[in-house]
Amino acid sequence: MRQLLSIEELTGAQICELLALGHKLKAERGNHVHQPLQGQTWALIFSKSSTRTRVSFEVGIAELGGRPMFLSTRDIQLGRGEPIKDTARVLGRMIHGAVIRTYGQDEVEDFAKYSQLPTINALTDQEHPCQILADLLTLEETYGVGAWKGMKIAFLGDVDNNMGRSWMWAAKHLGFTLALAGPEHALPKQDVLAALNCDNIICTTDAEEAVRDATVINTDTWISMGQEAEKGTKEQAFFPYQVNAGLLTQAAKGHSVFHCLPAYRGYEITDDVLEAHAPVIFTEAENRLHAQKAVLYTLATNAR
Ligand code: CP
Ligand code: NVA
Repeated sequence: MRQLLSIEELTGAQICELLALGHKLKAERGNHVHQPLQGQTWALIFSKSSTRTRVSFEVGIAELGGRPMFLSTRDIQLGRGEPIKDTARVLGRMIHGAVIRTYGQDEVEDFAKYSQLPTINALTDQEHPCQILADLLTLEETYGVGAWKGMKIAFLGDVDNNMGRSWMWAAKHLGFTLALAGPEHALPKQDVLAALNCDNIICTTDAEEAVRDATVINTDTWISMGQEAEKGTKEQAFFPYQVNAGLLTQAAKGHSVFHCLPAYRGYEITDDVLEAHAPVIFTEAENRLHAQKAVLYTLATNAR
């Protein structure tokens, strides 16, 4: 593994290896014995806002001995139209790795191709691989290593967004049952399901059907970054898929609610549900650090 551009490109075994390393690095945090990024500079090139991703990568790179360099596209020439392939070839001659948050998946792929650097997708419109690794780490901490085997996991709302897609590929690779519930027009299209080609992903317009006997219930904002113009027209159709206390009466005993954050209370999740599940939801946020340190560690080791 020399880059992390998507969960799609990983195997189930690679995901499990990253999770095992994430658990180990979390347990050993504070020892500062693992410094595979010693002497290296890693750029964080962000075209979209971020709290968790930016902070967890800056802290994680520093803890692994490297130097993070945050580059907002508001400040660098990329934001004024310099092509990504030119930016990539410049940075490829100066730094050691890159973490990119942007719109198109092709931009991350082009950066990796032209820079020849270890490159990490820190969210595109297509996928959010770092978040799904942190979510799986949290699931294993809550229910045990490999506990996703045979588990039913639900994802409600804008299910074909970057988080929904990441959960779909995780389901494909790990084999758990994933029930996606949202309005008809927001369900994954046939081409997406054909690419996944697996029978453990269920799509429904019935929120109760998706949540029934599910152990983990996920949601995410209905309006992803870049879709702000659709706010209002989009929102109304999603209210039947709000994660609220009534809906959760259908879930399995001992269930957890996951949210990648930021959350919009009163929309995709109610305030009481978010607060009741805050310990696990904020552990997901913390686990961004540990999961990404596992990714950075792996890429740095493999690049040698
Ligand atoms: N979950 C997540 O990626 O959060 P940020 O947008 O704050 O980085
Ligand atoms: N789907 C959301 C995830 C935010 C972390 C977005 O893209 O805005």
